[in-house]
Amino acid sequence: MTKKTCAFYDERDCKQILLSAEEIDSITTRLAQAIENTYKDSEKQLVLVVILKGSMPFATDLMRKIRKPLQLEFMKVSSYGAGTKASGEIRIHLDLLREDLPDCDVLIVEDIIDSGRTLSRLTQLLQNRNVNSVKTCTLLDKPSRREVPFVPDFCGAQIPDEFVIGYGLDYAEDYRNLPFVGVLKPEIYS
Ligand code: PRP
Repeated sequence: MTKKTCAFYDERDCKQILLSAEEIDSITTRLAQAIENTYKDSEKQLVLVVILKGSMPFATDLMRKIRKPLQLEFMKVSSYGAGTKASGEIRIHLDLLREDLPDCDVLIVEDIIDSGRTLSRLTQLLQNRNVNSVKTCTLLDKPSRREVPFVPDFCGAQIPDEFVIGYGLDYAEDYRNLPFVGVLKPEIYS
């Protein structure tokens, strides 16, 4: 049997499960309630901007628990490598194209914050487009990795500086379909 066809090879590549499917479910419930509460008095259109690809499972679970009308948009961005001249800049591969942003409350949905560069620049970029409000929601946060100051408005869990996979998070594009967040065994990537 090849590695790819073994049903549980992905789980065996984890040295530890950081968040089980049940824990993720509780987290998305808590975040959805906090989001509802934050926007309950707003008359603007709530728009979830999902940052591809890693945020997809989180966004789909989260949005179904938010009991308020909302719309969905997608962006795909990548940050330039640290140390380059444009450090802190982001490259936009798929943009948000709508003309009613001043009438929208935008909530950016991310799977993880690491250096903070992506969300810091993205927030700035959307603010410059005169969005009514911009807030951020992340499933995971690694505060010890921060290179630029950034604090998300909604955060599922702070985690240590480990290589995490699953529930959208990848290693070389694999493991995104795991239903939990795990720590990848170092021998897999070293
Ligand atoms: C990850 C994550 C964030 C970014 C966070 O995306 O989804 O967008 O990195 O890192 P930062 O805080 O250092 O900017 P990635 O580039 O891995 O793309 P993917 O979601 O398609 O896997």
